[in-house]
Amino acid sequence: MKIYIATDHAAFCIKEDVKKILEALGNEVIDLGPDSDTRVDYPDFAHKLCDAVLNDTGTQGILICGTGIGMSLAANKHQGIRAALCHDAYTAQMAREHNDANVLCFGQRVVGLGTIESICDSWCQHDFEGGRHADRVKKIEL
Ligand code: RB5
Repeated sequence: MKIYIATDHAAFCIKEDVKKILEALGNEVIDLGPDSDTRVDYPDFAHKLCDAVLNDTGTQGILICGTGIGMSLAANKHQGIRAALCHDAYTAQMAREHNDANVLCFGQRVVGLGTIESICDSWCQHDFEGGRHADRVKKIEL
């Protein structure tokens, strides 16, 4: 899978670790910034990443900020993006299997590296189940 990744300053410190985790799982990872921990506004990076995912069919995104909340709120403004704020392997699995989420969000100040590893592993292992979930996912769009 080709996965775009972006953070804000709050999560810059774990971006390289998350990239390594994703690459070890066999993914191609494209880093959309930022390049330092200088203060930035999370919506700028959320919008940049969502534009990249929407313009590159079949790809996914990962957005990380302090809590994951701001990134998920901004990402979900994009039609065609289903951003899921995940806290553990189970929520990551459900986000893929039931919600067909294409952007994973989590908070650097909320989950530790061990949990991040299991979130990424679960996200990459599970696919959308379709069926009744496809009808529900369609209903998300207004
Ligand atoms: C930055 O301080 C913080 O507000 C941001 O990383 C994020 O948690 C917002 O939702």
